Amino acid sequence: MNNLLNVTITERQMMSSDVVSLTLTNVDGSPLPAFSAGAHIAVHVNDDTIRQYSLCSAPDETAFYRLGILKDPKSRGGSIAIHEQLKAGDTVTITEPSNLFPLDMTADHSILAGGGIGITPMIAMAYTLKAAGKSFDLHYCVRSHSEVAFLDELQRDFGDELKVHCDDLGDEQRLNPAVDFGEAAAGTHVYTCGPSGFMDWIMGSAKEIGFKDKNIHFEYFSVEVDSTGEAFTVIAEQSGKTISVSGTQTIMQALSDAGIKVEVSCEQGICGTCIVDVLEGEPDHRDQFLTDDEKSDNDQIAVCCSRSKSSTLVLDI
Ligand code: FES
Repeated sequence: MNNLLNVTITERQMMSSDVVSLTLTNVDGSPLPAFSAGAHIAVHVNDDTIRQYSLCSAPDETAFYRLGILKDPKSRGGSIAIHEQLKAGDTVTITEPSNLFPLDMTADHSILAGGGIGITPMIAMAYTLKAAGKSFDLHYCVRSHSEVAFLDELQRDFGDELKVHCDDLGDEQRLNPAVDFGEAAAGTHVYTCGPSGFMDWIMGSAKEIGFKDKNIHFEYFSVEVDSTGEAFTVIAEQSGKTISVSGTQTIMQALSDAGIKVEVSCEQGICGTCIVDVLEGEPDHRDQFLTDDEKSDNDQIAVCCSRSKSSTLVLDI
C-alpha cells in the first residue's frame, strides 16, 4: 500500500459539461512526490469509497497534482460524490502516485489515443514526450464536441500534435487508425485509455495494422466484469476460517462477511489492490490486472472479482 498524503483542493473547475478538474496541493505547501506519466493516485472520497484517478498534470510539476474526473452516470458512488461534495478548500487523503501504465521513452514515435475521460493519462504522457523533444500524436476521441475537456490548454501546449475527433462532427475528422496511425514501425508505440469498447477498437485496429503486442499499451479504468459462477469454498489459512462463496458472491464479500477485511479499491479487477496469494487450488481469473503469465502461475488472485475452478481455494490471508 502506498503512503497516504493529506492534500488541499486549491482549485475546482468544470472543464466540460461533465468533467471537473481538481488541483491538489500538499496541506503544508511542500512539494508533492514526483510521478511519471501514466501514474494514478487513489482518492479517499469518504469512509467507504476509495477511487483511482490518473494524474493529468505535467509530471515535472510537483507543486500540485491535477485530476480530471468524469461525472459518470453509472458511477458506484465515487465520481458523483466527488462532483457533488468536494469543493475548493477541502482536505482529502490520497495515496502517493503509482504507475501501471508507463511510457517507453525509447520509442521513436508514440501514438496516444484517449477516449473520453481516458484522455487524462494521455495528457501527462504528452507533457513528458513534449518536454523530452519526442515525436508523438495525441488523439482525443469524444462522442460529442460538447464533451471535450481541457481543450484550450491542449491546443495551446500541443498544437499540431493534438487531433480531436468528435463522433457528432464530420467523417473527415473522425479517427481512422488505418490512416492516422501510419505504418507499424518497430519504434512506434501505441497507448490507449478510455471506455473498454473504445480501447478494444484501438487495440484491435493497431494489431490489424501490424503493431506487435509489446508496442501496444493500455489501461482500463472501467470494465464490465462478470464475477458470478459456481459456488466454492475458500480456506483463509492465516485466519483459520473455512468460508463458503455462493454463486453470486465475490470472494471479497464472503471474506468480509466472515470478518476478514481485504483492502479494495476499484472492485473491477483493474487496480491490483485486492491481490492475495493462493496457496492451493486453481483460480478462475476474471481480472485485467494480472498478466497472462501471472495468471498461469495461479499463485495470486484478485479477490474482488475472480473465482475458483477448483472446489476449494486456499488463500494466504
Ligand atoms: S480492488 Fe482493484 S483489482 Fe480488486
